[in-house]
Amino acid sequence: MEYKYCGKSGIQLPLLSLGLWHNFGSVDDFGNARQMLLHAFDKGICHFDLANNYGPPPGSAEELFGTVLNGDLRTHRDEIFISSKAGHDMWDGVYGTGSSRKNIIASCNQSLKRCKVDYFDVFYSHRYDGVTPVEETMEALIQLVRQGKTLYVGISKYPPEQQQLAYDILKEAHVPCLISQYRCSMFDRKAQKANFNIAQQNGSGIICFSPLAQGLLTGKYSKGIPEGSRAAKDSGFLQKSQVTKERVEAAVKLEAIAKDRGQSLAQMALAWVLNDQRVTSVIIGTSSVAQMDNNLGTLQNLHFSDDELQMIENIISDPILSF
Ligand SMILES: NC(=O)c1ccc[n+]([C@@H]2O[C@H](COP(=O)([O-])OP(=O)(O)OC[C@H]3O[C@@H](n4cnc5c(N)ncnc54)[C@H](OP(=O)(O)O)[C@@H]3O)[C@@H](O)[C@H]2O)c1
Repeated sequence: MEYKYCGKSGIQLPLLSLGLWHNFGSVDDFGNARQMLLHAFDKGICHFDLANNYGPPPGSAEELFGTVLNGDLRTHRDEIFISSKAGHDMWDGVYGTGSSRKNIIASCNQSLKRCKVDYFDVFYSHRYDGVTPVEETMEALIQLVRQGKTLYVGISKYPPEQQQLAYDILKEAHVPCLISQYRCSMFDRKAQKANFNIAQQNGSGIICFSPLAQGLLTGKYSKGIPEGSRAAKDSGFLQKSQVTKERVEAAVKLEAIAKDRGQSLAQMALAWVLNDQRVTSVIIGTSSVAQMDNNLGTLQNLHFSDDELQMIENIISDPILSF
């Protein structure tokens, strides 16, 4: 594994981090999930990305992670970097969602219990909810640091204006924003254009989610929607309607470029996100150890020639591909 410093901080993160959004809920196979977590750790993936609502059902991914952490990995807590988040719908009633201080604090307390840890390494505001003043949300994150419930804080999916405000408030409180999380892939470059420079200028690391566009950038949908794939599952967030003819055709063309590079499409898609030097790490999601191994192979070729980048650009510049 290769590691990179996260913004202007003393924290290094692996180029590939593992996310538990899908495939780690109580509806999923525990043995497979445990194997993936242990394999990741063995391969140097020491950063695990969680959120209160990951499952399904919500909360169960944190519970599963807590079970493995306190079982097989119980002597390794200090070698592992754990993040969780609050802000999306989690429990009934008006306090179970959004970015209020009430939700952030209560949610962090619940997540610590589910993960069976004393503290998180980073706790995120999962989203700007459009209503709660950024000051209120950031003060809640600052409080969590002061209470020792998280070492660092992060923001996820904040629009540019609220992103800058969040950095300013956190900086003033001497709790700088360690990391900013945005969706980024060859099929979604909005954050690259709107948010990455702001993060970099403020010393925040950048971590990218859904780098394979939830599987669309692996070539797996070239012959329809395979059984067991994310788009085939009722609980999956990839909608069948998002598996469009244009995206599938673009993936086929991209796969030919990847093949010439001696890579799978998944590997090239991950390398493409990491080729942006502002990015600290990409969060992969996998449904098997074999997929994880394939994705780990990315590290064998992270370099792109100008010609390759141009060929890729010619395919992905079509706005119809964008989410
Ligand atoms: N901050 C936020 O709001 C937010 C939002 C979304 C995600 N995230 C984080 O980002 C993480 C990653 O997101 P993501 O799961 O959407 O990432 P992704 O890498 O774009 O998609 C992962 C899916 O792609 C397929 N896949 C992965 N590697 C493959 C390979 N080598 N060959 C074939 N198929 C492969 C698998 O789907 P199949 O199930 O079809 O096998 C896997 O579940 C999440 O777990 C979460 O931690 C954060």
